[in-house]
Amino acid sequence: MKILMVCLGNICRSPLAEGILQHKVNEKGLNWQVESAGTGSWHVGEQPDPRSIDVAQKYGIDITYQRSRQFKANDFDRYDLIYAMDSSNYQNICKLASSDAQKQKVELIMNMANPNRNQSVPDPYWDDNGFEQVYQMLDEACEAVLTKYNV
Ligand code: 4NP
Repeated sequence: MKILMVCLGNICRSPLAEGILQHKVNEKGLNWQVESAGTGSWHVGEQPDPRSIDVAQKYGIDITYQRSRQFKANDFDRYDLIYAMDSSNYQNICKLASSDAQKQKVELIMNMANPNRNQSVPDPYWDDNGFEQVYQMLDEACEAVLTKYNV
């Protein structure tokens, strides 16, 4: 299984989502690959935001190896599942899809934990206090991904 986590800048939310899910699948010994990207290009090549690095570290997860990259149309061919952090990311990813099969790979990540609510993971970039909440939401959603696939 290859999974791509997508947010806007690929420095706050999706690096955390990548780190959390990759950590969980490694603990279970699964051969899944989790990566992340951003719909925007402003932060390409950068490390995750220090506030994301810190909250991940607090829970024993290292995300310092990650570097931001931009989502591109051929990612639809490279991944089985594409999880968007918010509804704006979701729409921007879907705009690049060239078939219904591609669009069907895209899902709002919080719908894994709370189906059909179409809840967004709030953008914590402008809020120093938002990172813990983002971590907890993503931890719940990533756990639900494993449950959905019975692992
Ligand atoms: P992310 O957060 O999408 O969770 O990585 C953001 C990072 C940077 C910006 C916005 C959101 N920005 O405007 O530069």
